[in-house]
Amino acid sequence: MEKLGRNDVCWCGSGKKYKKCHCNIDEKIVEFKNKGSEVPARNLLKTPQQIQGIKESCKINIAVLDYVGEHIKAGVSTEDINRWVYEETTGRGAIPAPLNYEGFPKSVCTSVNNQVCHGIPSADVVLKDGDIINVDVSTILNGYFSDSSRMYCIGEVSPEKKRLVDVTKESIKVGLDQVKPWGFLGDMGQAINDFAKENGYTVVKEIGGHGVGLEFHEAPWVSYVSKKGTEMLMVPGMIFTIEPMINMGASDIYIDDENDWEVYTVDGQPSAQWEIQVLVTEAGYEILAY
Ligand code: MF3
Ligand code: CO
Repeated sequence: MEKLGRNDVCWCGSGKKYKKCHCNIDEKIVEFKNKGSEVPARNLLKTPQQIQGIKESCKINIAVLDYVGEHIKAGVSTEDINRWVYEETTGRGAIPAPLNYEGFPKSVCTSVNNQVCHGIPSADVVLKDGDIINVDVSTILNGYFSDSSRMYCIGEVSPEKKRLVDVTKESIKVGLDQVKPWGFLGDMGQAINDFAKENGYTVVKEIGGHGVGLEFHEAPWVSYVSKKGTEMLMVPGMIFTIEPMINMGASDIYIDDENDWEVYTVDGQPSAQWEIQVLVTEAGYEILAY
């Protein structure tokens, strides 16, 4: 970290003196670091201007998911959803982040029933009564990234699947309660894992959340099977996703080796996921996309 004088202008671009802006935060980070905690590098603390840009991107992400929610129903194919996302995103002057991301062929991930995540939209996958689906939307606007996902229940869904979807949604709230400056990401991870277990479910270990904003996927990697008091320190200005994948059966997953993307439960039981994008603030947190 560059060493600033207390009367210098703060590195974050706020225009304020360092002593009236990030000085205390930087000192506190150093204290935690000296005690052996994993702490965020300065580039993970977004500046007010970056936060503004990221929020604009998030607004589009939310609007696209709202559009999906208004139109999704039995008979719709996941390719239809892909087309909606492409059109609703580009129509607002933004770019779907998944498209061509590390070779991903479509504009959105659509994961149905026993698909855990990274489902590739297809005209052959037609939604039917009783399906549950995660639609994971990510947007780039003026270089700023947003990322959130929701579950949709198609027609009459079994009570078992409905409960999985609801508990997974509630787990996000349980995790959020742990998001505050000078706590640890593991506080949030453990809260979600405990809550899933109490409800008889399991949490996917191999895939997690991530920092997001200036890139699609930034540090830190965010686990939902982590332990209280471990993982990265949460500091105001950090932006990351909370996106646990919760399985009705066992936590084991595999990746489809025909496309190297689509993730499924090994036991064939359903999996659910909700994703929000959250900013750590001085007071706690602010949800930027959901
Ligand atoms: N949106 C996913 C996430 O939450 C990322 C998917 S990568 C993609 O991190 F290429 F499949 F889109
Ligand atoms: Co994500």
